[in-house]
Amino acid sequence: MEPETRRTIRHSLSSLPVPVLQDLPESFEKIGDILVIHLKSHHTPFESEIGEAYKRAFGVQTVLRKGRIHGEYRIPDFKIIAGTETMTIHKENNILYHLDLSKVMFCSGNIHERIRVSTFPRDEEVVDMFAGIGYFTLPIAKYCHSRVQALEKNEHAYHFLCENVALNRVTHLVTPHLTDCNEYEGSADRVIMGHPKAHTYLEKAFTLVDRGVLVYHEFVPEGRIDRATERLADTAGKIGKEITIEGMRRIKKYSPGVWHIVFDVSVR
Ligand SMILES: C[S@@+](CC[C@H](N)C(=O)[O-])C[C@H]1O[C@@H](n2cnc3c(N)ncnc32)[C@H](O)[C@@H]1O
Repeated sequence: MEPETRRTIRHSLSSLPVPVLQDLPESFEKIGDILVIHLKSHHTPFESEIGEAYKRAFGVQTVLRKGRIHGEYRIPDFKIIAGTETMTIHKENNILYHLDLSKVMFCSGNIHERIRVSTFPRDEEVVDMFAGIGYFTLPIAKYCHSRVQALEKNEHAYHFLCENVALNRVTHLVTPHLTDCNEYEGSADRVIMGHPKAHTYLEKAFTLVDRGVLVYHEFVPEGRIDRATERLADTAGKIGKEITIEGMRRIKKYSPGVWHIVFDVSVR
């Protein structure tokens, strides 16, 4: 946080008890014109004042208190503490993401992976098994000129996916499907598997790639990276494929002791 912003916030909250003032959030996510902050339980009685102070200092429309992202659809449980609007347009890497943060997630921490996918080889056939609002689909279409079959099961996320495909002028490259990825039949050079439970869809993913690459995400407890490679090798063996792990990157710390890791796995 800029020192000037911190000073402005502290000044407007100077009447709050000292322990509350002392550990006001230093970090934040700015998604479009919405600020997301994490508050502790002793901030709760003052959350509206804190929300208003951050709203003014950052010049945003809304401030949300961060909650958990839960379930198969990865729906955020955020509370509005200043402003009213939860719909916004976020711009990143020259891509526009239109979304409603009360209905779908946007994980700022995955920014390097969203940028990395934009450097994948050009002109591939890609299946994005958990497309969401287009987190990976849009950079791959826009920067790699690949054709993407974007699969999404949640109607709200699918709605924004379709809007974002049009907004970013990649309708000629992206085909959105409102479907469970297990129902999809097709083939690809590259399959993107960006979901915490991606391992339960590995068999399906292998049926989509004859020769190609799986971009496989897993949330791995510290020291258990072998769990991910074992799952990949076991499933490949079961359906008669050979794999090589070409690369591995830590995306972020997901929770204490758990890493979000992505593997590039070549399949033949
Ligand atoms: C975690 S979000 C996408 C996150 C994104 N990859 C990122 O890095 O920010 C996963 C998306 O997969 C969708 N989803 C979950 N299960 C699915 C399934 N079986 N088939 C298709 N989409 C699914 C959810 O609705 C959600 O929008």
